[in-house]
Amino acid sequence: MPDLTSYAERWDRRHLLDLESLSADEITILLDVASRLKEATEGCRRKLSLLSGKTCANLFFENSTRTRNSFSLAAKRLGADTVEFGSSGSSTAKGETFADTAKTIEAMGVDWVVTRHGTPGTPNLLARELGCCVLNAGDGPHEHPTQGLLDLLTIRQHRGSLEGLTVALVGDIAHSRTARSNIWGLKRMGAHVIICGPPTLVSPRWQELGFEVAHHLDEILPRCDVLNLLRIQFERQHARPFPSVREYAALYAMNAARMRQAKENILIMAPGPINRGVEITPEVADGPHSVILEQVTNGIAVRMSALYLLSAADDRYRNANKASA
Ligand code: CP
Repeated sequence: MPDLTSYAERWDRRHLLDLESLSADEITILLDVASRLKEATEGCRRKLSLLSGKTCANLFFENSTRTRNSFSLAAKRLGADTVEFGSSGSSTAKGETFADTAKTIEAMGVDWVVTRHGTPGTPNLLARELGCCVLNAGDGPHEHPTQGLLDLLTIRQHRGSLEGLTVALVGDIAHSRTARSNIWGLKRMGAHVIICGPPTLVSPRWQELGFEVAHHLDEILPRCDVLNLLRIQFERQHARPFPSVREYAALYAMNAARMRQAKENILIMAPGPINRGVEITPEVADGPHSVILEQVTNGIAVRMSALYLLSAADDRYRNANKASA
């Protein structure tokens, strides 16, 4: 069993709602604990009893493959139980509110609520309404902090550090919670962030916040150490932001010809799900520079880390409240 107490003593948060508000020290603690837990579980495959007796509830009001399953596995790998809630087939169809649903699940004795919802700010609402720890698994286009963390961990594992790397986020920035969590996390860790995509999907405001904005992938590609290729989120768009998917792919898809213009050791990332042939071609997605499936494994590692650290802070908080009662 790894001794993680020195990390837990330096961690104070009971909720993980975003990366924008996290310091570089906090992100480093999350990544260090994730690395230790990945190693201790032999690549996130073996079970430990670090959190046995605790329960994690997944409250997902939007579809998910990676996040939902890896939160479940992360909890189980650390010995915790899980409750799986999906809005379809639940009593939300009878008019129960989001907060009442969450309070109902919490009353079954859960220690963490992991929530995904289409409305930005819903995890913050639950953090105010519930007594347990709350983790944001994606709130509309706002943030997806554990996705940001697993992306940072994957880059750090390959490059040793994030400091000074040039990382481009390419595609549908306007609708991407993954982009926002990456942007804040990468900036905090000292990377140079390029936000690249069609003008209809990249706000010029990012420049005012100190980020490099680009509209032509071919112009920035030779400088990039990492490309994170974001899916076009047709389901969140009210009008098509470019004339055709074929035109988008011609300008922004990472393909074999573009790989020849890239640095020799470029890392190709994508949060998934990927649309083959739109933001990435199959030979790149499945090629030697792609770390897309490593990102998935690291998702379990960072979620184990977040569950462990929040739980340790929560235990301290409850003990302090008991002592002062
Ligand atoms: N990257 C991500 O959030 O994937 P899922 O929607 O499958 O959880």
